[in-house]
Amino acid sequence: MPSNKSKNLNGAKSIFVANVKGGVGKSTLSIMLARSLADRIPAQNITVIDTDLQRTATEFLSKSNPEINVEFLPITPAFENTNISLVQQFIKQNEFRPGHVAIVDTPAGSSQRLWNLVAEGYCVLIPTTLSNADLYPTENFIRSMDKVKARYGKSYPHLIVCPNKIPFGQKDFSLMAERLKNHDVVIGPALRDLASVRHFYNGKAENWENKTNTNAQSDFKQFGSFIEKFVLGEELDKIYSKNNAPKNVVPIR
Ligand SMILES: Nc1ncnc2c1ncn2[C@@H]1O[C@H](COP(=O)(O)OP(=O)(O)O)[C@@H](O)[C@H]1O
Ligand SMILES: [Mg+2]
Repeated sequence: MPSNKSKNLNGAKSIFVANVKGGVGKSTLSIMLARSLADRIPAQNITVIDTDLQRTATEFLSKSNPEINVEFLPITPAFENTNISLVQQFIKQNEFRPGHVAIVDTPAGSSQRLWNLVAEGYCVLIPTTLSNADLYPTENFIRSMDKVKARYGKSYPHLIVCPNKIPFGQKDFSLMAERLKNHDVVIGPALRDLASVRHFYNGKAENWENKTNTNAQSDFKQFGSFIEKFVLGEELDKIYSKNNAPKNVVPIR
């Protein structure tokens, strides 16, 4: 059984948000997770690493939550080598900062160097909608991550599929679970198709703050509480350390 105790030193964690597919909600989830965690742990213990040239996370968070650290390290084919190394250094150093959480928003696209970097994390959040157009590449992505883990004989990172843009009222994820049953993944709490989030980038962070986005607030709050318990609180390690752990546990709610 491969183990990697150093991942748990001091409780420091690096969380990657990744998928080959663009538009599945990676940047949105990175931003909202950081904000939700800032209600639970000291904001100075949270760093968001924005690797997307579009600076979505950087721009939003600098206005909405300036107390959260943001590092802008774009990973594009042109900058790839330098900035992948910088992100790598950052997350290595992060392991020695007690209680610190690094959230890495990654760009879409498939590069082996990027997957190798993502594989150094403690967990990977993989947002996807339930449409085939997203699920199909998501499965391929999970397969690539499984291969990297197998190649290095690692049990980390934990892979967490995050159903996103889910129609209101849908509570049944058995089709998704069935499709992912041969992979070593966990299905996290669903995020609904939220009108306020859909228009997220049109407006400014200030406008978002002023609105009463009750549905969005409740979904991201629940997501933050899931991450606090299962990732920061290491419940996932407990699930995985049981030999009889069922495949794709669905720890929703
Ligand atoms: N839960 C959601 N409900 C509705 N729209 C969403 C949701 N999550 C993301 N979006 C929208 O989907 C689009 C893509 O999201 P984004 O976070 O930029 O994806 P990615 O970073 O994966 O490319 C954006 O317009 C965003 O507002
Ligand atoms: Mg993005």
